[in-house]
Amino acid sequence: MKNTPRPMAEEKTGEVMEKIVSLCKRRGFIFQSSEIYGGLNGFWDYGPLGAELKRNIKDCWWRSLTQRRDDVVGLDASIIMHPRIWEASGHTSTFSDLMVDCLLTRKRFRADQVDPQSGIAYFYSGARDEATGKQCADPFSVLVPRGKPPESARKTARQFYQQRGLENPTPEGERAEPIESTTRYNPENGSLLTEPRPFNLMLKTYVGPIESADNLSYLRPETAQAIFVQFKNVLDVSRQRVPFGICQIGKAFRNEINPRNFTFRSREFEQMELEFFVRPDEVVQKMAGSVAGLADPQATAALDTPQTNWGWELWHKYWVEQRLKWYESIGLSRDRLVEYWQKKDELAHYARATVDILYKFPFGTQELEGIAARGDFDLKQHQQFSGKSMEYFDEEAKAKYVPHVIEPSAGVDRLALALICNAYCEDQAPDEKGNLETRVVMRFHPRIAPIKVAVFPLLKNKPDLVSKAKQVRDLLRPHLTVFYDEAGAIGRRYRRQDEAGTPFGVTIDFDTLGEKGPELKDTVTLRDRDSMKQERVKIDELAAVLVQKVS
Ligand code: GAP
Repeated sequence: MKNTPRPMAEEKTGEVMEKIVSLCKRRGFIFQSSEIYGGLNGFWDYGPLGAELKRNIKDCWWRSLTQRRDDVVGLDASIIMHPRIWEASGHTSTFSDLMVDCLLTRKRFRADQVDPQSGIAYFYSGARDEATGKQCADPFSVLVPRGKPPESARKTARQFYQQRGLENPTPEGERAEPIESTTRYNPENGSLLTEPRPFNLMLKTYVGPIESADNLSYLRPETAQAIFVQFKNVLDVSRQRVPFGICQIGKAFRNEINPRNFTFRSREFEQMELEFFVRPDEVVQKMAGSVAGLADPQATAALDTPQTNWGWELWHKYWVEQRLKWYESIGLSRDRLVEYWQKKDELAHYARATVDILYKFPFGTQELEGIAARGDFDLKQHQQFSGKSMEYFDEEAKAKYVPHVIEPSAGVDRLALALICNAYCEDQAPDEKGNLETRVVMRFHPRIAPIKVAVFPLLKNKPDLVSKAKQVRDLLRPHLTVFYDEAGAIGRRYRRQDEAGTPFGVTIDFDTLGEKGPELKDTVTLRDRDSMKQERVKIDELAAVLVQKVS
């Protein structure tokens, strides 16, 4: 028992999030963007450990699709594209959130994020300044909790009319009314909000030397559209045949009204998107004589192996399963994930079905990825707007058609946050004298851990140990991300690596030098972060042992 770490008692979720945010800054996972200038809401920077983590996530995703399969190829498109693309995709007309503004402070909220409140609403028809005789006829209203005196509503109303040019206003025409579950008032100060108005989330910029409407462009709000507009080019050069996919990783920008929950909803973020093109069901029917769907028990039981008679439903379910397996492979267990099938009234107008993969964050169960069956909406839109054919001739099916698409679309930053939350753990572990102390340990899956192995000489002031440790470091470096540390007591060095989430620690001690006999010469201790168990491994075998553990 002595060396086994023990979990701590459950904590409140707010406290856990505070600790995670603070660890992210302290250990260099995530910093506030532009921090020395006071920060910029909705933008984040990744420090040394965060940058490695993100890179590992993207590499794992990319490899799982492009290297481990024959039917997916990659794309790396520009962020700014022809503005007509966003007309075709519907983003210029419909990519908006309803927002409301506080009439007092001008603070903006997403209409669907205002919590319902109850209380007494005070209505005013206007106000008058007795001393100057000035009047304002703007109506205003304030919601105050039941039991609070009307004076508190009048105080807020006076502020409102002062902002409209009355120095010492007396609100007029006061009328009080009890109200239940309203979302028309600012929960922070009770002031009335504006009526909900659509707010387009695309960030605008100008391309070229003249800032005119003709030169208006957008920072892409998703990476997906580039895949659709390059569909034909990729098809021509890659020798792929439907069904096949094109994937892309890249930055996306959305002028979110309320960025929140740390990096969860940001204004600049990265997406990992796959557009997987499949045959329309009519073509499958003609070719295979039938279309297998979700109602077919035989087909759903063998979802790992795509079949020619699969319709879009099975391809969609196949990708949901593939994506869930991928999340498991990087350490998010199924019990922390939720597969949410959007209801009919929640679906985007072009989607036939959408499954959201949600993760149980400390601040709630929220979306990591959406997997949508988008039909042929996107290719047809671009065909219509560009005037270029998006049709494909299927030699096997002997048919010409616009392919349909299944789109698994994930956020890199959201996943990094989920992995950080998932990894965060406090336990009690024995210090060098055997006394239990609290240890913060990031239990990242070795596959995505920022640093894979730390190498320590037992003592810094023994040149033989140091030079051997450096030899081991150099031996491992071509294979893995290695961190070499010789500063401080060995226990403290382990703790630092536990906090960074490094799964393995290698210590070079006097046994390595053969001081206790030839049998342990050229062996090292390999410590496992989670179990804290130590084993002796031959230096010659170390790289192979570690590569096997992290891949
Ligand atoms: N092409 C489809 C598409 O973009 P989406 O649900 O809007 O769909 C896909 O975005 C994924 O991108 C989300 O599941 C999420 O992981 C990530 N994402 C979207 N908006 C985000 C934001 N403001 N901040 C961080 N990640 C975001």
